[in-house]
Amino acid sequence: MMLNEELEAELIAAAYAAAEHAYAPYSDYPVGAALLFDDGAIVTGCNVENASYGLALCAETVAVAKALGEGRRGGLLAVAVVGLKAGAEPITPCGRCRQVLNEVAALGATDPQVLCVSKDDVRRAALSALLPHAFGPSNLA
Ligand code: THU
Repeated sequence: MMLNEELEAELIAAAYAAAEHAYAPYSDYPVGAALLFDDGAIVTGCNVENASYGLALCAETVAVAKALGEGRRGGLLAVAVVGLKAGAEPITPCGRCRQVLNEVAALGATDPQVLCVSKDDVRRAALSALLPHAFGPSNLA
């Protein structure tokens, strides 16, 4: 499956739709993430905050937990991340989320494209560029 313009647009739309469900009453910074898998499935997540602020879960981490929890193991082709309150600059996954995304990518030996989306821009980077020399499941084998 190739990531063409139409599929990218669908993935970005799914990330925006997911951000509508964000539970972000403390930061007021809703984020949505959408993961595209090689069977065409899209799994989404939003950030989920907590009254104990430090326990916040990022959208990407929630999406990965949903995907692994549904039994997916690898096959991750692309990720779209959107911040509804982000400015002109697209937001990129935080360090922890890069590591969490790497887990599902490494299981299928893919190097997903990460689409970092703002109102007027899409910044594309391979996960391996965002997280070089990653630690992953193979290190424990
Ligand atoms: N956040 C994400 O969900 N993903 C990111 O890539 C960056 C930050 C969330 C965490 C927190 O709920 C809010 O954005 C503000 O940091």
